[in-house]
Amino acid sequence: MSEATLHGWLTAALLAMAVLTFVVLGWVSAPYGRHLRAGWGPVVPHRVAWVVMESPAVVAFVGIFGLGQHSADSTPLVLLALWQLHYLHRTLVYPFRTKSSHPWPVLLVTMALTFQLWNSYLNARWLSEFGEYPASWLLDPRFIVGTALFGAGLALNLHSDGILRRLRGSGESGYLVPHGGGFELVSCPNYSGEILEWCGWALATWSPAGLAFALYTIANLGPRAVSHHRWYRREFPDYPPHRRALIPFLL
Ligand SMILES: NC(=O)c1ccc[n+]([C@@H]2O[C@H](COP(=O)([O-])OP(=O)(O)OC[C@H]3O[C@@H](n4cnc5c(N)ncnc54)[C@H](OP(=O)(O)O)[C@@H]3O)[C@@H](O)[C@H]2O)c1
Repeated sequence: MSEATLHGWLTAALLAMAVLTFVVLGWVSAPYGRHLRAGWGPVVPHRVAWVVMESPAVVAFVGIFGLGQHSADSTPLVLLALWQLHYLHRTLVYPFRTKSSHPWPVLLVTMALTFQLWNSYLNARWLSEFGEYPASWLLDPRFIVGTALFGAGLALNLHSDGILRRLRGSGESGYLVPHGGGFELVSCPNYSGEILEWCGWALATWSPAGLAFALYTIANLGPRAVSHHRWYRREFPDYPPHRRALIPFLL
């Protein structure tokens, strides 16, 4: 089997995994943060978890990208920069700013690490080896609109995570009702932003790998947003009634 065929099969497998993830998370909330509960084995501190599970998206991605025949071409390099803009923050900045007292099950960290290796291979290999991105792609409407969506999603994600972070003083671990920005419309604008980002990525790269990642992100964060939303409604009787879970006015 050629590597291109293997890459195609692994992309199809990620799509299948997205469907499976969506179904499972409809029944079981991933056990971290407010949904952490006993019975998931040993745990590690949340900072360790974030750095370990996200680091393949920085390190492995660059290494795999560097092996591709188009790794020195300008357009793949621009796309690499977009990817790293998100993942350098997620791996090296976010874990050290967030104020969570919840540890992570090692099992969940291992699953997330495996996913990141898989997804990094698919996307990095596509950008610098299997995809075709001439310099003219930078003027293609799909790249321009996709990059704009990516930027808007990143801004919403960072802004919303910032609002959550400021709800707690140092050493505090309780939950409050967040207000401002995207929280005026939905319970999880950080997830809405993340989904927008990767939908933008799928458009900007116009790739099966990008599409598989965007759909996986929806499958992963969609059910979690609904779980968070239900949790807020349960815990706070005066929770803003018009607020939706993930998509303003709809869901
Ligand atoms: N691409 C993907 O598939 C994917 C998957 C997962 C996460 N992510 C991204 O990773 C980031 C973190 O995800 P997450 O699932 O941990 O998000 P989250 O549940 O919204 O929590 C984010 C942080 O804010 C704290 N927090 C949340 N709600 C709060 C409230 N009402 N009052 C006070 N503190 C609150 C949490 O503390 P606790 O930990 O104590 O709850 C945590 O430290 C997000 O930007 C998300 O988009 C991406």
